[in-house]
Amino acid sequence: MSKSLSRGPFPATRMRRMRADDFSRRLMRENRLSVDDLIYPMFVLDGKNQREAVASMPGVERFSVDLLLQEAKELVELGIPAIALFPVVDAAGKSELAEEAYNSNGLVQRCVSALKDRYPELGIITDVALDPYTTHGQDGIIDDKGYVLNDRTVDTLVKQALSHARAGADVVAPSDMMDGRIGDVRQALEAAGHVNTRILAYSAKYASSYYGPFRDAVGSAGNLGKGHKYSYQMDPANSDEALHECALDLQEGADMIMVKPGMPYLDIVRRVKDELAAPTYVYQVSGEYAMHCAAFEKGWLDREAVIMESLLAFKRAGADGILTYFAKAAAIILRDHAK
Ligand code: PBG
Repeated sequence: MSKSLSRGPFPATRMRRMRADDFSRRLMRENRLSVDDLIYPMFVLDGKNQREAVASMPGVERFSVDLLLQEAKELVELGIPAIALFPVVDAAGKSELAEEAYNSNGLVQRCVSALKDRYPELGIITDVALDPYTTHGQDGIIDDKGYVLNDRTVDTLVKQALSHARAGADVVAPSDMMDGRIGDVRQALEAAGHVNTRILAYSAKYASSYYGPFRDAVGSAGNLGKGHKYSYQMDPANSDEALHECALDLQEGADMIMVKPGMPYLDIVRRVKDELAAPTYVYQVSGEYAMHCAAFEKGWLDREAVIMESLLAFKRAGADGILTYFAKAAAIILRDHAK
């Protein structure tokens, strides 16, 4: 049979040649996931010797500080660079003005100082947001119509961030989406001498329906009820707005910017990385985790392979690091495959 012109340069070019053997696949591999890319979100509870499973997040538990320290030992041994802490606050810790958020002896603050004491090399990232501490589950202080007041909320976030820095947090991570909070937090940290406390800004945080299981995990779902966060979190329809948000946060003094959720927003990760060239992070959120776990439990997807593929996708999109509930599982897979 004669060669048809429509085949272009074939057979001079056979794309399958480089895929034929493992050595050449390895040589041309463009992206790799390593343990250095992983940040593990963890839920902390009050009390002693407490651990509770999160029903909608199989394999994820809430730990009291003493048990969280034991868990942290394993994470350090696995080489995970950092964890992100989220508190489960009981009814007594919730109020209209979220004062518990900046209690120097609060749950997060105690947990941070215990962790830094025991594992100084483990990076500790704290969540700067008021939703665990408000009776209404919003990320800020509301007026009589339920509108989240920007500037009053920022004042409280600054107090919260300072209390985390004093407790020893390496990175404070405002996840609230108020305007101007990065600048105010940065100035306050500088003024208090915390010049090396890093800020990881949840810059492009969307008003997503993938956060449901997280709100169960921290127990804010009931408080939020039918409330929503559209007046501060971003519209999933927007992309340019994400660049605007990220650029502002960098200008205000963020060291790292983040896109959240992850897999449905890989296009945003790529644009942010290409256009701003700053350290860029992505959060594979609770709903993404839950979806995967449900399919693993049904035997519909191969657990190990799909976890690794989902995380590699973030690297390919340009992320420098990934917050993921699969961090520990992925670190174990990476360790075992290196043997
Ligand atoms: C709230 C906060 C949320 C998450 C992290 N911080 C939920 C929300 O905005 O309602 C979600 C994380 C996840 O779904 O894994 N400050």
